[in-house]
Amino acid sequence: MYSLFQRIRSLRHRFWYGVSERIRWSRGAFEETPVRQLCAVNREQGERIAALSSRYQVQFELQMSAATCANNYEYLDILDRGWTGSGMARPTGGVLCDIGCASFWYAATLQAFFRPDRLVGVEIEGHRLFKDGRTRIDYAAGYLRRLPSAQFVVADYADYREPADVIMSWFPFLTAAAVLAWRLPLSVLAPERLFWSIKHNLRPGGTFFMVNHGEEEAALANRLCIAAGLRLVSRWACPGVLSEHRMQPPVLSWWQHV
Ligand SMILES: C[S@@+](CC[C@H](N)C(=O)[O-])C[C@H]1O[C@@H](n2cnc3c(N)ncnc32)[C@H](O)[C@@H]1O
Repeated sequence: MYSLFQRIRSLRHRFWYGVSERIRWSRGAFEETPVRQLCAVNREQGERIAALSSRYQVQFELQMSAATCANNYEYLDILDRGWTGSGMARPTGGVLCDIGCASFWYAATLQAFFRPDRLVGVEIEGHRLFKDGRTRIDYAAGYLRRLPSAQFVVADYADYREPADVIMSWFPFLTAAAVLAWRLPLSVLAPERLFWSIKHNLRPGGTFFMVNHGEEEAALANRLCIAAGLRLVSRWACPGVLSEHRMQPPVLSWWQHV
């Protein structure tokens, strides 16, 4: 069902993915140089960041580069507005598992917002090698250095079996185009198995929280959730001043066992 062009791209990605998995290179934990002061924000964005910083007692600029810092404030803004706007009660404590966490650059945001007892980020391509000679686990180790209860796990979540009270996924892959654009082979695209695993690992009374790129992707994700045996509890989407770079506002949804 994939085009010849897609299959050729996938083969190339599979080769490099296999190489990084076999080599498992690491130069050790890498910590970004903190920007200390955020400059490239307008007045409205500055006010919003100040409000978030005070409400959640965070100062990402003292730990991260300007780009990572801005991205963390954006995710915190999405969480703050989304959970308030949807009327969902914010769970605290317990185990929070984030699926497809990349280098887990937003772990500090999840820790500040949910205050879980244990925070786990699961990433299938944890050994990806970047141009600077560092790998994703090197970056993850740096981001988690100040978060003693957080952990980075390199695994395919479709095969991962650990219960959690809150499971979340920010922009999970649902289409071949997205997987190939991220330079992964098409073999990692198994959304039905992924959502079945979510349902299996979610503790009774627990919540699965998902963020999708726009309505079309959210509709596709909704069908997968329902097919896996999850029930939609709430849904929310609203543009925010820290998400102006996005073509469409992220769509948030909350799910529980049927
Ligand atoms: C679009 S990226 C989103 C990354 C991150 N959540 C964020 O918001 O920046 C999706 C991530 O999911 C990871 N991924 C895809 N399939 C996965 C799987 N089956 N298990 C774990 N991680 C997976 C990819 O490697 C990629 O890092």
